[in-house]
Amino acid sequence: MRHIMLELANKRIVLGLTGGIACYKVAEFVRRAGEQGATIDVVMTQAATQFITPVTMQALSGRPVYIDPWDSRVPNNMAHINLTRGADAILIAPASTDFLAKLAHGMADDLLSTLCVARGNCPLLVAPAMNREMWLNPATQRNVALLRQDAVQLLGPAEGEQACGEVGSGRMIEPDQILSELVAFFQPKTLAGKCVLITAGPTSERIDPVRVITNRSSGKTGYAIARAAREAGAKVILVSGPTALPTPYGVTRLNVESARQMHAAVMDHARDSDIFISVAAVADWHVVNSSDQKLKKTAGGGAPQLEFAPNPDILAEVAALEGGPWCVGFAAETENLDEYAEAKRRRKGVPLLVGNLAHKVMDADITELVLFEDSGRSSLTPQPKLQAARALVQAISQRLPR
Ligand code: C5P
Repeated sequence: MRHIMLELANKRIVLGLTGGIACYKVAEFVRRAGEQGATIDVVMTQAATQFITPVTMQALSGRPVYIDPWDSRVPNNMAHINLTRGADAILIAPASTDFLAKLAHGMADDLLSTLCVARGNCPLLVAPAMNREMWLNPATQRNVALLRQDAVQLLGPAEGEQACGEVGSGRMIEPDQILSELVAFFQPKTLAGKCVLITAGPTSERIDPVRVITNRSSGKTGYAIARAAREAGAKVILVSGPTALPTPYGVTRLNVESARQMHAAVMDHARDSDIFISVAAVADWHVVNSSDQKLKKTAGGGAPQLEFAPNPDILAEVAALEGGPWCVGFAAETENLDEYAEAKRRRKGVPLLVGNLAHKVMDADITELVLFEDSGRSSLTPQPKLQAARALVQAISQRLPR
């Protein structure tokens, strides 16, 4: 069965381009947002047309592009009204210094600025893109503060190398980040103001510099939960064992290898967190007699004698903290899920334990989560990991003590 999840299905977005070299990156965003089901009406300032042609934007959006407030193709000549009514959001990317200034002061001297003033309740998101000195200029910063007061949502800017060769803050965030921020914008903010600490992935216990003992875990579920918690408005810290996954946008990631490193990183942040979600597949033991040099095969063919000692149980320790976060555990089992998961929940002392059958979900993109709590057992429908993660975040937000 294929699960196709269109993240922007039925969403109508007005995309405004203003003058900046980052216009070329927005072409990619339009294609990707279209693939996710969005209908995109592109509006460009005259300056934007110096950087990318309206033909390109028309071809990618599959719709007419608007530039001129006196566009005779618009029957009532009120594109600034027509475009915003029924739109789910207006996104300005790239947003130039000049355009931020115009927005902050309610100026309306071209189609894009006019439709922003005429937008009514339509949400406005802006992705600034400019040279670092232009971004740091006190006038720009004053304008940005005004825009925040007016509930305009700022996406970025990012730090890094700039088209002019300078390095600093002011780069537009990348097209895939704009896309994930737009998708996030439409998710319910059920964890607004909360701090969520999550562990994900495997741990890796060293035998010698080239050999480790690890658990099979892609980290996909934990990363999806981190993304879903951020989308729900939380501040998210993700303590991650070794994985090949990209960090979800806006999530703070702390990389660890061993269970003891994971324990230390978690304990550093546990008391400041409202929720702890322990998704990592933590090794139960570490090798006491690990070697600083590569172990060599002996002539007789004998195997090394490894000695193990138990690792700290991170979840149980956090759950036992007085005034600590609300804790969620995970259990991947190969059999007797109900019996083992509920026993694990009681042993760890957590209000919610999420179980799944390892052979069904390992390496897969679909997951089946079963919730175990005081009131009994309930299961979420099998679904892609990101959707399951959103459903779990929703369930957690409903169970948090008020
Ligand atoms: O039975 P087990 O101890 O493996 O329980 C799994 C749950 O406990 C998971 O949430 C896992 O992240 C957590 N755990 C932990 N520290 C360990 C072992 C497991 O936090 N040392």
